Amino acid sequence: MKKEKEVHTRKYYGIRFMSGMENLIRKTMPKIILLISEISYICLSIYLKYNIDRIEVDIDIIKNALNILSTIVLSAVGIIGLVMLIIKFGSPDANKLNDDFKRIGLVNNINEPPLLLSKIKNKTTNAIEYTFYFNGVVKNNFDRLRDELAQVLNTDIVDINFRIKGKRKKKMNKQYIVVICAPLNSIPETVFLDEKYLQTDRNIITLGVNWLGAVTADLRKTPHMLIGGSSGCGKTVLCRSLIYQFVKHKDTVYIADFKGIDFFEEQEAGYTVVTEEADFKNLIESILKELDTRKALFRKAHVRNLSQYNKKNPDNQLPRIVLFVDEAAEILDTTGLPKEQKAEIAEITSLLSRGARKYRALGLTLCICTQRPSNDIISGQIKNNLDLRIAGKCDSVLSDIILDTTEAARQIPKDSVGLFFSNTAGLFRGFLLDEDEAEE
Ligand SMILES: Nc1ncnc2c1ncn2[C@@H]1O[C@H](COP(=O)(O)OP(=O)(O)O)[C@@H](O)[C@H]1O
Ligand SMILES: [Mg+2]
Repeated sequence: MKKEKEVHTRKYYGIRFMSGMENLIRKTMPKIILLISEISYICLSIYLKYNIDRIEVDIDIIKNALNILSTIVLSAVGIIGLVMLIIKFGSPDANKLNDDFKRIGLVNNINEPPLLLSKIKNKTTNAIEYTFYFNGVVKNNFDRLRDELAQVLNTDIVDINFRIKGKRKKKMNKQYIVVICAPLNSIPETVFLDEKYLQTDRNIITLGVNWLGAVTADLRKTPHMLIGGSSGCGKTVLCRSLIYQFVKHKDTVYIADFKGIDFFEEQEAGYTVVTEEADFKNLIESILKELDTRKALFRKAHVRNLSQYNKKNPDNQLPRIVLFVDEAAEILDTTGLPKEQKAEIAEITSLLSRGARKYRALGLTLCICTQRPSNDIISGQIKNNLDLRIAGKCDSVLSDIILDTTEAARQIPKDSVGLFFSNTAGLFRGFLLDEDEAEE
């Protein structure tokens, strides 16, 4: 019988070598192994060389040739050994895991398991970050086999994502899949907003922490946000931690609080806090007016957005204008209202919608909070422009309304407070500003 032709398996030596070099720089163990093996090899070489040199040969040419040959062979073996060792560092646990991956069917079309390049433990949170090279084992496979993979790795999987690595970011897009493993309950219970989490870059804001540290949002990419989730899940507290950071960044913050009792401290500190419908409308109108003046300024300066303008005018930077709307449903829900009032609210909705759509480049940030942002409360026009979606505790229907996936309901335990799921960064714990908030 004809023997079945074996499928050729690529060895990816180059990628494993590069990743081995990275692991060598980042981790201690490979450094120690490399040092010990290099010292042993050098000692062995010296010993061999010494013995070869002692061989008695009368003819000088042969003696020289032997000398050169031994030097070449010893160096070559040394270099090959070194390269092989680095390649080995670049695919840790490969043999052990490869069989397991094959067993659970985590393979590409030619039956190759994914290529593990590094396994790094976060010292503060104990989360383990596995990085795989994308060798045709697509992210879908990882998602589908999430539970099986968790069993093989013997821990919970908290995130599976593409990671862009290295300097050639654009080119390397989607080349790596990172699986982050940690016990699901290992995000710290209470985290206070410490200086170390604050960002000096005015375009970046810290939402909270996860297993790997600070979770941030880039306001250039996602200027507007929608925060939803059932009552008491921590939305207002999250807003306050964001307000604190915007103020630190010297941005202009306005607050609309339709519960009317949550932002006394901010009001006392001198921020504009509106609680009535008419004041709110005036506030949005004045904000949009201010931004219209800014538009003229940008046109004159030939810049397209706020960060460009601020880069060009470092001594005369303009603030981001941030509008927080807490309990938005209290004002935007028109169910059962008389016709006149409905028209009034439609006007507010259209102002908000215009703001979200047209003023993002000018430095407007909208942060809209409400328990249930269904279409009758937050119109599609507004919602489509709220790019950063954050859900607190919720059921799968609510999760779907907020994020367009049921993931938040799956990942946030029913009894948790201050735990959120975002469409850009997954699960995170929001900050508390002080002890008072924790005790409430
Ligand atoms: N990040 C957090 N960590 C710990 N406890 C929190 C956190 N966020 C909120 N809480 C607790 O939950 C309570 C309700 O939070 P709140 O922000 O008022 O909820 P919501 O606005 O969603 O109704 C707070 O008073 C606080 O005690
Ligand atoms: Mg609230």
